[in-house]
Amino acid sequence: MPRLMWPVAIGLVCAGASWVVSGMLHFPLIFQWMFLFYVALGTGVFLLLAAPELPLLRPGKAIVGLVAFYLFTSGVFLAGGAILPQFDPAVEQEKINKILKHRRAQFERPHNTEELLKRAQDLSVKANDLMGRVAKLQGSTAPVLAASLGTTLSPIERGKEVYQLYECYNCHKIGGKGGTKKRGPEMGNIGNLLTPQQIIKKILSTKADPYFYAEGFEKEHKKGLMPEKYRELMTEEELSTLAAYLMTLKNPAHVTPKPIFLKDEVQHGFIVYGYVRDESGQPVPNMKVSARPAKDGSHATSAITNKDGYYEAFLHLHNADVGAVIRLSVRNQKKELRADFDPSDKKTKRQATIDFIL
Ligand code: HEC
Repeated sequence: MPRLMWPVAIGLVCAGASWVVSGMLHFPLIFQWMFLFYVALGTGVFLLLAAPELPLLRPGKAIVGLVAFYLFTSGVFLAGGAILPQFDPAVEQEKINKILKHRRAQFERPHNTEELLKRAQDLSVKANDLMGRVAKLQGSTAPVLAASLGTTLSPIERGKEVYQLYECYNCHKIGGKGGTKKRGPEMGNIGNLLTPQQIIKKILSTKADPYFYAEGFEKEHKKGLMPEKYRELMTEEELSTLAAYLMTLKNPAHVTPKPIFLKDEVQHGFIVYGYVRDESGQPVPNMKVSARPAKDGSHATSAITNKDGYYEAFLHLHNADVGAVIRLSVRNQKKELRADFDPSDKKTKRQATIDFIL
């Protein structure tokens, strides 16, 4: 029937267009399906308009039909409401209460960046120490340790809670989980790329006073996608525990983009790169390469080789670290190199290469 063809044809074109456009705009999948559903509804309306007239019903039959239709649609809506998750004000209220609880506990002070950064450093050292001890003692003693600190939550658990409360997951994924498509960078390896201080500075930075952006996210950075509101909203306790929690995300298998510093902060980064091959010259993929500056208290970094056996490890070295010895290890092979660079040169990438044959 040609006059029913038109609504179907137009509906199909609209469906395709809405799918492609919503995909290009990075709408979550569920939204894309919802748009399709709306197009289908609209097509249905036009189909009904174009459909041939039905023979007139007798009044009795018409009323029964109407009531049956009403009962059916009401049933569908009620069942949908019962099955689908609904907005629950109690959940939101609890989130707000949790935020306020910590805020009331420690009265508000303006951010003192210096002090804040120092505290974050202390916390991170403490947290690392604690993690080490917990790992040694096995999981069962963890609650005891947390209790001995006099809090119900360890700093890291608290940081995780802060991450949830401020809904960072709306844009960031951890190990591919949470977050919509490509709004913000993956966080699963952030602990290998940044220091707690740098994480805090990033959260406190604004479009007018930028600090760094994640590689590959220059456009998003220029648009100011990462909200600036945390600067006003977060307390020092929240910032430092959040940073301590993010520092525990150190899985080199997750691809977190490295920071591109916008000021004269090339000084913070030193890249060691190279290839891992076997004796016959074949690339060794998925191999963990660890790198650590040979001085006390320095952070170890690890990287994983790709299918070409290539790795790239990002180390935090400052100007004062010029000439520092960096120890690398792959399986049980160890190598060393010296970080040579010109501290007054703020443009050239600081890097060195070293290959391994296993
Ligand atoms: C509305 C989306 C959005 C939300 C919400 C958001 N971010 Fe971001 N974030 C981004 C985008 C986009 C980037 C990349 C551009 C840039 O670096 O400015 C980014 C970058 C980052 C980076 C740098 C990552 C790297 O690889 O160098 C960190 C760290 C970060 N965000 C932490 C957070 C934390 C912590 C929260 C929650 C308190 C949060 N973000 C909430 C969008 C968001």
